[in-house]
Amino acid sequence: MTAKITIKKTFGAILRSASLAAVTSAGLVSGVQASEVEVLHWWTSGGEAKALGTLKSTLESQGVDWKDMPVAGGGGSSAMTVLRSRVMSGNAPTAVQMLGFDILDWGEQGVTADLNDLARAEGWDQVVPKALQKFAKINGQWISAPVNVHSTNWVWGNKAVLDKVGIAVPENWNDFIHAMRKVKAAGYVPLAHGGQAWQDATVFDGVVMATGGIDFYRKALVDLDQNALSSDTMKEVFERMRQLRGLVDDNYPGRDWNLASAMVINGEAAFQMMGDWAKGEFLNAGKTPGDDFVCFRTPGTQGTVTFNADQFAMFEVGRDRQDAQVKMAKAVLSPEFQIAFNTVKGSVPARTDVSDEAFDACGKKAIGDLKEAVASDSLVGSLAHGHAAPAAVKNAFYDVITAHFNGDMSAADAVKQLAASVKNAS
Ligand code: GAL
Repeated sequence: MTAKITIKKTFGAILRSASLAAVTSAGLVSGVQASEVEVLHWWTSGGEAKALGTLKSTLESQGVDWKDMPVAGGGGSSAMTVLRSRVMSGNAPTAVQMLGFDILDWGEQGVTADLNDLARAEGWDQVVPKALQKFAKINGQWISAPVNVHSTNWVWGNKAVLDKVGIAVPENWNDFIHAMRKVKAAGYVPLAHGGQAWQDATVFDGVVMATGGIDFYRKALVDLDQNALSSDTMKEVFERMRQLRGLVDDNYPGRDWNLASAMVINGEAAFQMMGDWAKGEFLNAGKTPGDDFVCFRTPGTQGTVTFNADQFAMFEVGRDRQDAQVKMAKAVLSPEFQIAFNTVKGSVPARTDVSDEAFDACGKKAIGDLKEAVASDSLVGSLAHGHAAPAAVKNAFYDVITAHFNGDMSAADAVKQLAASVKNAS
């Protein structure tokens, strides 16, 4: 523990002197103009790019230019690797798409901006959900602007395929498996999936919740309780992951998530278990909820929400670039932008005072589910997307989940490895 703290401090000191160099020669080091924001993100799919376009145009209408820095890969692991090297060389972007514990980690390094004046003027404390504020502030200081609230315990289904095969929206796990077996027998791919660690983990979020419920999810994935991690319930979680493995097609390894969404969109597959950014792909393809596709909570997780909120963490930049940065942070949390962006992205507003009027049926459900989950204390952070545990622990989960899903490890061995790796990483 002591060693860990020392390393962190040293790293923080290096970063501070590096960012000081960036401040003194801001324009030279970054190559970013005063009226420009340089934004690092992983929104590269059709739906994501379209949603991000609403921010670009909002800012451009205010005289702020956009310097795009996309790094593909859901969950943001690749983007975070690029970010580390940028900050280490004293050249941090203006704003970085970031999730949960990663924001707090960067905040602790002392290289993030202070948004408190803006937050006070805009009343962020009053309108941003508490669950998001927890990840947007460090020692009471706002460092990041929340963009949205997504959640991972969703399933997306092709309506025509379900009608043809004659299956209704499944209510519980066994019905879901039964429905997918029927789909397989009818010649469709039951579950569209991409074998990438973060996608396997996204499915895992829902399976843990469906199998053990909210208390178990909290004990195992948030409290990292060894008994929960090595329990029979966790063994059942891995057995269910194995059931799902038998319902994906042969070409699933490495497939991007949006290509898996496309399989459901074009009727090759019946279902995808994915966060509601998948809805952005359906909408981008001109599809309508209810008519062309259905959205429902992972069977067995109704009433709970495993949330994942994108934020733009703001980094310390030279004085000349602060004005553009503040304009961006302000725009991100404006009610107009929250509606324009989230209706396209598939997420719901990061403010509690925005009406659901402009949202489609799935969006209205998402907003309602979120409210209910807050009221019944059934809102919990997504492990897959960095809101349940810090990156080192998340990665320990990723390794075991993906080794089990893509190999022939038994559920009993997976549970043993999981408990050991998590202990090691925490
Ligand atoms: C998540 C992110 C979402 C989404 C997804 C796939 O980590 O929070 O906004 O776009 O990755 O890229």
